[in-house]
Amino acid sequence: MRVRAEFSRSAESYEHYSIIQQRVANKLVRSITDMPQKILDIGCGSGTVFKAIDWELEHFRALDFSESMLSNHPASECVTCQLADFNDIKTLEAIEGDFDRIISASALQWATNLDTVFASIAALKAPVSLAIFTCNTFQSLYECAKLKPILRCSDEVVTLAKKYFDAHYEVVTYTLEFESSREMFRYIKKSGVSGGRRVLSYKQTKRLMQEYAHNYLEFEVLFICS
Ligand SMILES: C[S@@+](CC[C@H](N)C(=O)[O-])C[C@H]1O[C@@H](n2cnc3c(N)ncnc32)[C@H](O)[C@@H]1O
Repeated sequence: MRVRAEFSRSAESYEHYSIIQQRVANKLVRSITDMPQKILDIGCGSGTVFKAIDWELEHFRALDFSESMLSNHPASECVTCQLADFNDIKTLEAIEGDFDRIISASALQWATNLDTVFASIAALKAPVSLAIFTCNTFQSLYECAKLKPILRCSDEVVTLAKKYFDAHYEVVTYTLEFESSREMFRYIKKSGVSGGRRVLSYKQTKRLMQEYAHNYLEFEVLFICS
């Protein structure tokens, strides 16, 4: 439940601190050319994907397990919000209705069992547009702290995804610059990118803030589009 707590805590500031996630969602939506009418958005948050769509929709089903993130999702006649956990195997299995496309932006890195989640998504038999953060996110920071990355590597995710999706795979690296290390660490806290995993104590974080020699953070994202 720590991931949920982290996103619920950061829901209010998410919009402000989600610059990379917004770029990811925009790239994902721009890559969709068939203007799907019925969409399922898994881990929708406060609606970054929905806001990036500029064509008419018949039905947009927005699924997230954070009530506060969902409460910030735009309302519209075509939008149905669903409070649910994609790690609960019954959630995706119970989804009825046919979708023209399944989208998930910056959320599935928190899948406990990604194989099972991919299998449930594939069972919905719709084309997919998925963007998943991978292990070189915060690479320099992890190297400086001598920590192992907490996210899966892109090769591992591609191997899993190829079992289920005949798709195009692309790994994109983003960097975000900061004016000070204080601002950088505030960003990590407020954006929810750590997913609630507190791997460093207060003292260790303080030391890392002094020792980290860069003014940027890296983000690595795997795009899976079929
Ligand atoms: C980084 S945000 C991305 C939100 C949105 N898709 C975007 O592009 O801005 C990740 C979202 O995934 C949701 N999430 C994480 N784990 C989840 C789970 N197990 N079930 C449902 N939603 C989850 C979080 O609550 C959060 O809203």
